[in-house]
Amino acid sequence: MSLPGKRLLSATTIKNRVEELAGEITAHYNAPSNLPSAGLTVVGLMNGSIFFLVDLVRQLPPQTAVETWRVASYEGRSSTGKVSGLDHLTGDYKGKHVLIVDDILDTGVTLSEVKIRVKELGAKSIKVCVLLSKKKKRARQVKAHWVGFDIEDSFVIGYGLDLNDAYRTLAEIRVLDDSKQ
Ligand code: IMP
Ligand code: MG
Repeated sequence: MSLPGKRLLSATTIKNRVEELAGEITAHYNAPSNLPSAGLTVVGLMNGSIFFLVDLVRQLPPQTAVETWRVASYEGRSSTGKVSGLDHLTGDYKGKHVLIVDDILDTGVTLSEVKIRVKELGAKSIKVCVLLSKKKKRARQVKAHWVGFDIEDSFVIGYGLDLNDAYRTLAEIRVLDDSKQ
């Protein structure tokens, strides 16, 4: 089977970087001043972060709680500028330290809206970890505390990232050919 586009990040490159991120996150939250007594709750945004979330949290301390939220902002290859699904998101986050995990930071609309929601639900601290970051279309300033890879502004697929729900299951990340848009 020939795969669309060309390889940007191999499965091994991704694996090594996820290991590094897990080490940095663990070290950060292990510092007693950053995580007094409550544990860490990781909120993964579905479906894009599915593989990244799983690979990451398996390397975090065993007390880590894991939640998933389903939100969407993309149709085809572009952002709609709106985030759907936020109204349904509930839960008791009072006093909790929350780490939001997503596949990619692009316009920033998704993560800024999700951060607002997590704050409304009472979280004590909120940090963000993304596997990929594209800066060109940033419309909202969102601080990502941990970023796997800064990449150029092109459409990528694989390792959870999809094009209309296809290609999520690829083990590597590939750039789709712009001429075929
Ligand atoms: P933002 O709200 O524009 O920052 O977009 C974030 C969301 O858009 C991510 O969670 C992805 O689901 C989706 N997205 C952004 N860029 C890409 C891409 O290159 N490939 C696949 N999905 C993308
Ligand atoms: Mg997403």
